[in-house]
Amino acid sequence: MKSFFHVQDIGNLDAALKEAMEVKRTPFAWKHLGENKTIMLVFFNSSLRTRLSSQKAALNLGMNPIVLNIGQDSWKLETELGVVMDGDKSEHLREAIPVMASYCDIIGVRSFAGLSDREFDYAETVLSQFLEFSGKPVISLESATVHPCQAFADLITIEEHRSSKRPKVVLTWAPHPKALPQAVPNSFAEWMNAADVDFVITHPHGYELDPRFAGNAKVEYDQFKALEGADFVYAKNWSCPGVTNPADYGKILSRDMAWTVDAAHMAVTNNAYFMHCLPVRRNMIVTDEVIDSDRSLVIPEAANRVVSAQVVMKRMLEAMQD
Ligand code: CP
Repeated sequence: MKSFFHVQDIGNLDAALKEAMEVKRTPFAWKHLGENKTIMLVFFNSSLRTRLSSQKAALNLGMNPIVLNIGQDSWKLETELGVVMDGDKSEHLREAIPVMASYCDIIGVRSFAGLSDREFDYAETVLSQFLEFSGKPVISLESATVHPCQAFADLITIEEHRSSKRPKVVLTWAPHPKALPQAVPNSFAEWMNAADVDFVITHPHGYELDPRFAGNAKVEYDQFKALEGADFVYAKNWSCPGVTNPADYGKILSRDMAWTVDAAHMAVTNNAYFMHCLPVRRNMIVTDEVIDSDRSLVIPEAANRVVSAQVVMKRMLEAMQD
């Protein structure tokens, strides 16, 4: 595996899920694979789960993880080509990437969307420079448009808890005080479209996800109708993807608290499990009652981030041995 951005990069989903269960059962069985190998985890943005689960996955495989917080531990980096660097950014990605790559065997990158320039974000301008200039396998640890390690962990969690062959999974938008990127819902939609589930997306008008990710998923604008009979409710806020109106890209179009997932929403489901990638704003996205209920999967979902990261790193290390 040369890179991990999209669901296609993991190949057959059944095989990937089987491998994930094996990794979960015996996490230290491949400790020899990472011997004398180093993974560089580069963070342009904050993280709790991604940072810790990636380090843990690397350690389980016998690798040495190095974490670099750009702008805090390092110089501030310029990401755009052709600019006169007379501001606060001391180094360009063009030099920093090959230097970092010379110290490691795999690179993971967290780089959020700026939410001001749709073209820049949806071209994955930062991540693609890592691919181009590192010469090393690259993992998106949530980049401008995707969060594949999260979506893979979500799929593993659904696989562990589903009671029917083809469960109904609903991705619902929920309110948030800040404008958030679309990476999590994009990847969740992409992975659910590839999985054997009945997938429905619900959000207020204007929040349509980019068709590259929404695919042929059913979109239902009536949230209660969408949630009827759901087996899994996946809540997430995202800002306007700018599909119907590019000028609205990255904006907050709705603050409607009627979309907060509460007991009344869960009551129309098939006793659904509640999911969220975390961090979550309580009583904005979901009420205390729902997230604290015995149907909430937010903690096992976060724990599965180690498993998804480990499968990806394991495959990259195995490919190096070929
Ligand atoms: N879900 C997730 O990626 O969490 P962090 O932002 O804390 O890494």
